[in-house]
Amino acid sequence: MYTQHINDIHIEVTDRCNAECPVCPRSDGGGQEMPFVKNQELGLAYFKLIGRDFLSHIKHWNFCGVKGDPASAQELFEILDYILDCNPDAEIDIRTNGGARNTKFWTKVGNRFKDKNCQVVWSVDGWEETNHIYRRNVKWSKLFANLSAYISTGATSKWEFNKFAHNMKDLDTIKAFCRRNNIFLDVREPFGFSVVSHKTGGMVDSTDNTEQHGMDRKLNPLVSKIKTIPVYKKKDETISILDYTIKPHGTSEDKILDDHDPTAEYDINDWKPGVYDREDFKQYKGTEQTIDCKATNTSQEIYIDSSGIIYPCCYIAGKHQMGDEQLNPYIEKYKDQLIVTEDHSIYDILALDYFTKVMPDGMNGDLDDEIGYCITCVQHCGK
Ligand SMILES: C[S@@+](CC[C@H](N)C(=O)[O-])C[C@H]1O[C@@H](n2cnc3c(N)ncnc32)[C@H](O)[C@@H]1O
Ligand code: SF4
Ligand code: SF4
Repeated sequence: MYTQHINDIHIEVTDRCNAECPVCPRSDGGGQEMPFVKNQELGLAYFKLIGRDFLSHIKHWNFCGVKGDPASAQELFEILDYILDCNPDAEIDIRTNGGARNTKFWTKVGNRFKDKNCQVVWSVDGWEETNHIYRRNVKWSKLFANLSAYISTGATSKWEFNKFAHNMKDLDTIKAFCRRNNIFLDVREPFGFSVVSHKTGGMVDSTDNTEQHGMDRKLNPLVSKIKTIPVYKKKDETISILDYTIKPHGTSEDKILDDHDPTAEYDINDWKPGVYDREDFKQYKGTEQTIDCKATNTSQEIYIDSSGIIYPCCYIAGKHQMGDEQLNPYIEKYKDQLIVTEDHSIYDILALDYFTKVMPDGMNGDLDDEIGYCITCVQHCGK
């Protein structure tokens, strides 16, 4: 699927995290940790296996991931030093909730980054009284001390702010803070709100739009409501119960559906892998879908997860771990070959049929199944 050397890497250097954000795949709505979270991480040794030759071509790194916070990685500095040694001009973004580690750690990050094309992207969804409502478990005093320590080194920052009903009142304060400290502020619509449609009085159609930009949707005033995001807490070792709910911003009360059952108990052992009902997607077969692959349209990007598996992108990685019924049979066939070892280089991996045939077939509708297209490719990159 790639036409040039890989130049962009999105990496989940660890799947550990100090926070419990309700829409993050690492937990069941902020409650119990999902079974596919292993609290694992990549060490410097893995980057050395990938090798200096490959890494010297990497122009941009996104230290982010699907289910972890890069600040929790034990060998982060060794890794940063190595990849900057391989390419001193590499751009690096580290995305973090900012609440892990201490001021000494963040000063050290700032000192590494200040004269380079590198920045920390702070995922902070509010101010002192509101950030923890979505960024659960992040202590404001710690985050603010960390952020201030990093800023005082003169290194570059970006602030990503997700809009919710509860945090819009903080936006002016955050704008002023960012202006004072020369921080680029990106105000975004969050994932996680779903639209529920009513027909003839009853609720018959619930569409989970967890990855659709929330409030930009045009709501039909007669039939649709936006469902609140439920936030769960742990009741015991395996059970989660409802703690509170989060409302969308800019939506009147009559357009909000806040009906999560406060008495329901969810046992994480009942979780079964699975994402799609394949029946729903047979309609793709033989149709003309236009896919604009985000991993190859502007750069040549791969995703590396915290087990070391090389994927084309974070969407495929996320769906794989959730138990994607369509993709997993293909990925499982290659699974042991998707990790770099002494005898199996990253170039060997990128030459596998998985990258040169299965994924292109999935984007062109030529997969040898009853759907033809890769459902994830159509859903995330279909036009
Ligand atoms: C799983 S996080 C990993 C990186 C880091 N732990 C963090 O939160 O920034 C990946 C990205 O998802 C974003 N994110 C988390 N919840 C979100 C939501 N409800 N809507 C949009 N983005 C969200 C985070 O801000 C981050 O940019
Ligand atoms: S901080 Fe990032 S990784 Fe951690 S729970 Fe929140 S979204 Fe997930
Ligand atoms: S989902 Fe498919 S089309 Fe989209 S970036 Fe990933 S591989 Fe490319």
